Amino acid sequence: MVLTSYKPKLAIVYASVTGNTEQLAEMLQAAILQQGLHTELYKIEDFPLVALSDFDTLLIGTYTWGSGEIPGELRDLYHAIEKLEHKELQTAVFGTGDSFFAEFCGAVDRFRDMLYVKTTLVASLKVELTPQPRDFIRCEKLAELIQSTK
Ligand SMILES: Cc1cc2nc3c(=O)[nH]c(=O)nc-3n(C[C@H](O)[C@H](O)[C@H](O)COP(=O)(O)O)c2cc1C
Repeated sequence: MVLTSYKPKLAIVYASVTGNTEQLAEMLQAAILQQGLHTELYKIEDFPLVALSDFDTLLIGTYTWGSGEIPGELRDLYHAIEKLEHKELQTAVFGTGDSFFAEFCGAVDRFRDMLYVKTTLVASLKVELTPQPRDFIRCEKLAELIQSTK
């Protein structure tokens, strides 16, 4: 085994209907690349769930539906991580929501609580609706946390 060629596998996986969380995922990807890390960006429907344990770091992006609900298309991922119980898996969760609703970014909170117990959670990030240029600074801070724990 050639250990020197090992590259940590980092992925951003997200669900988005109207594009806000997708924009935030792309912003986060740019911030991570700026840190000199390589990341793969997946829409949830393209994510290889069967290869979940191959990843060292997963950044999960979610919008919030219903009353603070996790979107249906992210539930398999949620349960797979819950079952995996892989404390070496480094995670972060981010999302967009609308503070008009009682549970602002409730899906981010629900993922955060599970990831905190089952993985090594480094950060969570909530953004109001469409990400603004100032949110890039918050993405950079999140990216720095990933860098420093590797
Ligand atoms: C039916 C419906 C329910 C929603 N419920 C919530 C909610 O409980 N909490 C929240 O923060 N945002 C809620 N939102 C707002 C969305 O999460 C928000 O618009 C988000 O940015 C959409 O992300 P996307 O553009 O990536 O699809 C709701 C939106 C709709 C249409």
